[in-house]
Amino acid sequence: MCGIVAIVGQTPVAPLIVDALKRLEYRGYDSAGVATIDAGALGRRRAEGKLVNLEKRLGAEPLGGTIGIGHTRWATHGIPNETNAHPHFSNGVAIVHNGIIENFAELRDELKKDGYAFTSQTDTEVVAHLVSRELAKGLPPVEAAHNALKRLEGAFALAIMFQNDEDLIVGARNGPPLAVGHGEGEMFLGSDAIALAPFTNSITYLEDGDWAVVRRDKVEIFDMDGKPVQRQRQRSVGTSYMVDKGNHRHFMEKEIHEQPEVISHTLAHYVDFTTGRTKPLELPFDFAKLDRIAISACGTAYLSGLIGKYWFERYARLPVDIDIASEFRYREMPLSKKSAALFISQSGETADTLASLRYCKGEGVPIGAVVNVRGSTIARESDVTLPTLAGPEIGVASTKAFTCQLSVMAALAIHAAAARGTVTEEEERKLVKDLAEAPRLANQVLRLDRQIEKVARELAHYKHVLYLGRDTNYPLALEGALKLKEISYIHAEGYAAGELKHGPIALIDENMPVIVIAPHDRIFEKTVSNMQEVAARGGKIILITDEKGAEKSTIDTMDTIVLPQVPEIAAPILYALPIQMLAYYTAVFMGTDVDQPRNLAKSVTVE
Ligand code: F6R
Repeated sequence: MCGIVAIVGQTPVAPLIVDALKRLEYRGYDSAGVATIDAGALGRRRAEGKLVNLEKRLGAEPLGGTIGIGHTRWATHGIPNETNAHPHFSNGVAIVHNGIIENFAELRDELKKDGYAFTSQTDTEVVAHLVSRELAKGLPPVEAAHNALKRLEGAFALAIMFQNDEDLIVGARNGPPLAVGHGEGEMFLGSDAIALAPFTNSITYLEDGDWAVVRRDKVEIFDMDGKPVQRQRQRSVGTSYMVDKGNHRHFMEKEIHEQPEVISHTLAHYVDFTTGRTKPLELPFDFAKLDRIAISACGTAYLSGLIGKYWFERYARLPVDIDIASEFRYREMPLSKKSAALFISQSGETADTLASLRYCKGEGVPIGAVVNVRGSTIARESDVTLPTLAGPEIGVASTKAFTCQLSVMAALAIHAAAARGTVTEEEERKLVKDLAEAPRLANQVLRLDRQIEKVARELAHYKHVLYLGRDTNYPLALEGALKLKEISYIHAEGYAAGELKHGPIALIDENMPVIVIAPHDRIFEKTVSNMQEVAARGGKIILITDEKGAEKSTIDTMDTIVLPQVPEIAAPILYALPIQMLAYYTAVFMGTDVDQPRNLAKSVTVE
């Protein structure tokens, strides 16, 4: 969602804020803005579209001042134009906001009656007016901000600046993340530690309901009742990382190619390659005593959980209930006392996943979180963090985080199987050995990129695409369709191959290529039958298979992408790569914005 930065500094802050916003642009990129106070006057520059437009604007009309706030927006209320871009002003108050003020309509009516005029369609502007109304009553800035905050319902991270106090920014958090960065004679606020990395690695994460009074030489944090609270100061890890595409055209391409390495790091955290056993884990539950687990996540992370379900049930004989988090959070699912809950999230901030986690916590169920961003809210609120070691993922479409999530799910399933005695020690070693092949084989699969690029060149001519797969290839079919639609904007659907004849077969004609994911496994023949059904109706097939599958299949295809033979448990990780590459190259041919596709954001901190 939106990204926030605020600095009470020593030198001109506008360029520093823009630099920090670049690191937050993954959160939203439909408009951006900066406001500073220079010699007692509030100034603001805003621009529609990417941050580079704001940079140009600031180049032409620079802003001075050593205190300022900045924002990169993902629109919720109001179209993405300059008027709706943050910061929003009201009589010397400037505000940036991430989240949704749920009672904004009621507050807006109330403020209008009091004579406040609205210049934008945003929910945020009510906060600026609320603070300004409290100031008009004669309250000092800090009290005015606190009173205004008490009126807000919904999810918010806010930074508030006051024209009459050049040594004060008030930050507040209820839902979306906000971190304080501690400097020497300067202080910072940011949506995450990466944004603040150039300035400091000394970070305090605000908790829900916290608000902070940030001045150059000190930071005080309070709860909503105004009582001071102590929050731990942490050293953020790995934040010196500077986002950089290396030799690649896009972050997505770079991240696809990083997979052999990050899968290997992630696996090494969970399995011991020399002994062939899973490593001991300190878990708040015992897999041997569980009667089921509940998994919940969103988007691509959800699909990694869906593949995990096949593995937990197959290898560990442990039933899994899996839900899309936005459904789970309101479903009021009864949870067994002998269950555990797993949440999967790259960002660790996804609002629906976090709400589901809190529901399970409320039910007294032990919580594990598979997260990529250390220190994220989901990581902090879980009983155990099961990290994916993918490194920062900048491309909005998830690639390396997905295969690392799969690596964790596979390792956990083997761990659970060993604990429950559903595999022998010898079988455990075999599974670990097979899984350990994934990084090496991923390198080989990536070498298919030129061939996949050719297939993509053709695919880019179509408006609709169907993805089919069975077993763990079914969630992969869903992932293939998701990846393709989100970055190329081609309409794509994923189906379980066996479901074809129950409806979607009606769509088949020469204008809708069908991409079939079918390694030569136990159910290969069944998928071949489904391909026959497609071919008999004039459908064009792109088959993603292995050498044996290519040899056995007698069906005429539009293209066949042939992977090396891979072990069963490593297959979903490896078959994820061609579908990522296919989406990537298709999007490149379509000329879309691959790393920042329209309407999306990397971190979804609103419902
Ligand atoms: C798709 C994609 C999204 C995310 C989803 C969950 O490529 O990236 O579907 O997987 O928004 O995000 P996290 O994993 O941060 O909870």
